[in-house]
Amino acid sequence: MGGLRLKCGVHVRPHAYGVWHRAAPRCPSRGIGPIGSSAQAKGKSDNMLNKGLEDVVVATSSICDVQGDEGRLIYQGIDIHELAERATFEEVIHLLWFGALPTQDQLDTLKADLAANRNVPAQVLALMEQFPKSAVPMDILRTAISAAAFYDADAWDASPEANLRKAIKLTAQMATYVAAIERMRKGLPLVAPRADLSHAANFLYMLTGSVPDEVSERTFDVALTLHADHEFNASTFTARQIVSTLTDFYGAVTGAIASLSGPLHGGANTAVMEMLLKIGDEDKVEGWTKEALASKQKIMGFGHRVYKTEDPRATHLRRMSESLGQRVNQPKWFRMSQVIETYIKQEKGLNANVDFYSASAYYVMGIPTDLYTPIFAVSRVAGWSAHIIEQFNNNRLIRPRAEYIGPTNVHYVPIAERTPTPALR
Ligand SMILES: CC(C)(COP(=O)(O)OP(=O)(O)OC[C@H]1O[C@@H](n2cnc3c(N)ncnc32)[C@H](O)[C@@H]1OP(=O)(O)O)[C@@H](O)C(=O)NCCC(=O)NCCS
Repeated sequence: MGGLRLKCGVHVRPHAYGVWHRAAPRCPSRGIGPIGSSAQAKGKSDNMLNKGLEDVVVATSSICDVQGDEGRLIYQGIDIHELAERATFEEVIHLLWFGALPTQDQLDTLKADLAANRNVPAQVLALMEQFPKSAVPMDILRTAISAAAFYDADAWDASPEANLRKAIKLTAQMATYVAAIERMRKGLPLVAPRADLSHAANFLYMLTGSVPDEVSERTFDVALTLHADHEFNASTFTARQIVSTLTDFYGAVTGAIASLSGPLHGGANTAVMEMLLKIGDEDKVEGWTKEALASKQKIMGFGHRVYKTEDPRATHLRRMSESLGQRVNQPKWFRMSQVIETYIKQEKGLNANVDFYSASAYYVMGIPTDLYTPIFAVSRVAGWSAHIIEQFNNNRLIRPRAEYIGPTNVHYVPIAERTPTPALR
């Protein structure tokens, strides 16, 4: 293999077109070091390289704070435990967007606005019907939201009024799109939204065709509250980065959905349930987990970039998973989850995150596994919207630097004198 091996172990090889590219593996994930003198000479400060931007503060925000050492999460100052116990999702939306809990009149107005915006453009539904049957829900959702911009006269208006209208519309409609994805793939007629139902109840109604009972509505409502925002997580940062170029709201939400899809972020909840289903039985859990750790697999639903203690959202979801499992006489998934949790804590010192117990909770609610991440988006769109608006209100282009580790002074080689790269042989 030609090319150079750098000090950090990275192998750099000449690309087929004469350009030099980085080849995997890259520098160690935790590698922090000074930017080289050539970089500094080009105008970079003496910042340290921080792969993954761990603990890097890039903006001020008053929406949400994750206090990782204490395992505390607050939305606009209010502890998530208090909100999970007392607030409705609509109150949380108001809190995130306007900085305070709504008065009764303000809440009624927001609920009416959300209800009035639940219908999605027929053209987007028609487009969704054309997608291949193999398309996965998160990809359908991402494309639907991108296409929805064509049918919104506000799409490129970034005034505060238009941004709020888009926040309301996208928050209301994310639920409609996700329910439509499920009905379409099952070949069922779509269920029109009902203006008299809460956001949580209306979503479950559009999904199943039946108005949920109070326990299901409240459980789902709490799940929405727990997932609504989480500071500068990957998808929210994506959304903020996108609008920092002063592009459109829909583009930012589209990008955020793409980011949320990955198994290291929102896609973990689906992966957790797939893992539980694969294990299958309670008596196989410990052996499976042991083997997975021995083969250096990452166990989905564990670990967190910021929390060093219990993720406060997991506390509620654990309880929810247990009580819902008992309610439908399917305690197995909760019990299996508990065994995994105890084992991972003991062996790796890692805590369950938001995605671990939401998986078994949604499963016993009868929700298909590949809808867990789209449901995350149904809630998180409220947080994305708050952050997009905050970014627009105090914008500076987000444009970090890279530490260049490629060669310098490489010259153009005539085509007849080039050798093929190993990768293309
Ligand atoms: C969330 C996550 C991406 C955070 O990543 P991060 O801050 O970059 O942390 P790292 O991936 O560098 O992990 C640090 C160490 O813990 C280990 N670790 C972290 N999460 C782990 C997991 N879920 N299972 C097994 N080991 C894990 C890593 O292997 C690494 O060990 P090492 O230092 O011996 O190599 C990571 O914990 C993870 O992949 N979790 C599983 C996916 C998930 O649940 N995502 C949803 C997050 S809410």
